[in-house]
Amino acid sequence: MTVESRPTVYIETYGCQMNVSDSELMYGRLEENGYTPVGGPEGADVILVNTCAIRDHAEQRVIGRLGELKRFMGRDTVLGVTGCMAQRLGPALLDRARHVQLVVGPDGYRALPALIDGARRGERVANVTFDLEEHYEDFHARRFDGVRAWIPVQRGCDYKCTYCIVPMTRGPERSRTLADVEREARAVAEQGITEITLLGQTVNSYRNGEHDFADLLRCVGRVPGIRRLRFTSPHPNDFTDRAIAAMADTPTLCEHVHLPMQSGSSRTLKRMLRRYTRETYFECVERIRAAIPGVALTTDIIVGFPGETDDEFEDTLSAVRDIGFDDAFTFRFSLRDGTPATRLPESLTVPDHVAADRLDRLVALVREGTRARNLSMLGTRHEVLIEKAARRGGLLQGRTRQHRTVLVAGDESLIGRYFTVELTGTTGSTFTGTMTSAGQPLPLAG
Ligand code: SAH
Ligand code: SF4
Ligand code: F3S
Repeated sequence: MTVESRPTVYIETYGCQMNVSDSELMYGRLEENGYTPVGGPEGADVILVNTCAIRDHAEQRVIGRLGELKRFMGRDTVLGVTGCMAQRLGPALLDRARHVQLVVGPDGYRALPALIDGARRGERVANVTFDLEEHYEDFHARRFDGVRAWIPVQRGCDYKCTYCIVPMTRGPERSRTLADVEREARAVAEQGITEITLLGQTVNSYRNGEHDFADLLRCVGRVPGIRRLRFTSPHPNDFTDRAIAAMADTPTLCEHVHLPMQSGSSRTLKRMLRRYTRETYFECVERIRAAIPGVALTTDIIVGFPGETDDEFEDTLSAVRDIGFDDAFTFRFSLRDGTPATRLPESLTVPDHVAADRLDRLVALVREGTRARNLSMLGTRHEVLIEKAARRGGLLQGRTRQHRTVLVAGDESLIGRYFTVELTGTTGSTFTGTMTSAGQPLPLAG
């Protein structure tokens, strides 16, 4: 068969890194079954939309996009919806969008080649059963990023935060074996990738037999060739002293922790069923800061959760001020069908204009903090890994170990290399910098 006659597949990815990683697995699976990945929907034989269900807005975007994709479809094009929204809506999605032939949830990707064959014969199928054994160990993820790799270590989630749809879209938590994660880490290192991010919904609750998250960090952190290790997202309750000690002892582990707080009010946290209080969250921050000097902290915060009073929201603002996050992703609460929050009395609903106003105030506070910190960092020097060409003309985008974005001048041959960079300017959120040591790469660690 000539290359031209191979069918093509395009996967459009929404949502979190877990979906990005799943798309890499799907591309790998389909490539092994004779498909060629392509970079856009134009002319693709198979189009898959890998979706997110976390907020209503995320789903509305996908619904809009499915409509748009019609114009790229020929008579034989197969359009499928995968991921969390597929899992959530199941067969109902087939009724709602008549041009969609496949609906496949996060545990169903093994069957994709067969399901696509069926769709070519005119079948319309929804495959949304959970498979608690499924880690796709025999798939070869097709990575398009040659610098950084995302490695899932866990699927699903056993927390039941009352606002969250993820336990319903990804099922119960299960961890991969340490040996499988290590094997994948070694394989990506052999491809020349030097940065790994371990992925899981509550990644630090990782457990495989006797091995816990601390063992995982120590194991992956010393894979030869890996120079930067990251993980996302940890849950504040799962930061054992052992895990924090392993972080401190692992030189490749970057000085950055994304630690979702959700709210600074113990009362709101209780209604969210986050299982920690303002005080224990602060303690967790202190333990991390004491063990890892200079650690950058980022977070996720929801405003307008049912019953959130002005005082409770003020507690969130004061927590943001007191902790001094390096950055925060901020969200307006979105009520998701089937989540425990739907059972809270309607009288607790926070009116839209109140939630919108709170979000504005929170965003302004976060920006102010980030800006002040970034200005104070001008003139300092950092190790930067050049990741890719920046969207702004002619510049390269890289990151410090603390996950700060830096734009530098240079040509694309420098992508994937490490430099010492002096921070010379900031927009408030990102930096510009100049390479010192005349652009010489740092000697490789280990
Ligand atoms: N497993 C991760 C979160 C994954 S979802 C964790 O526990 O931290 C990413 C973020 O989306 C969450 O941290 C939360 O801030 C936000 N989010 C989740 N459900 C939401 C909802 N119903 N409305 C608004 N934001 C939500
Ligand atoms: Fe959702 Fe909570 Fe699980 Fe995170 S820990 S995925 S917020 S239920
Ligand atoms: Fe979205 Fe599913 Fe991730 S709901 S945030 S894509 S786990």
